[in-house]
Amino acid sequence: MVELCKLEEIPDNEAKGLVAEVDGKQRNIFIIRKGNIVFGYINWCPHNQVLIDQIPNKFFNSDKTFIQCSKHGALFNIDDGLCIMGPCQGESLKQLNISINGDMVVHED
Ligand code: FES
Repeated sequence: MVELCKLEEIPDNEAKGLVAEVDGKQRNIFIIRKGNIVFGYINWCPHNQVLIDQIPNKFFNSDKTFIQCSKHGALFNIDDGLCIMGPCQGESLKQLNISINGDMVVHED
């Protein structure tokens, strides 16, 4: 189990990008907080293989109902990373097995 950050570092209904070791490699990831639930993904759009937040730390559409790639606007479900609209519709972000342990967000391979 790897500690990623403190839960309190991510405001409710916000996302935080960071670099963490995943599968033995340093990867850009991001974590979304919904109350006491967290979702984590590799920060890599399946369309053009770029960071989702081409505009740093912009991970959502305007009403924060979906993850949105800031390059071409693809929309992804927050809970499973499936692209539901955009040039990579039907593809998915790579989801991470993260959870809350005490006051920390942790990752397990
Ligand atoms: S690079 Fe993400 S939608 Fe094109």
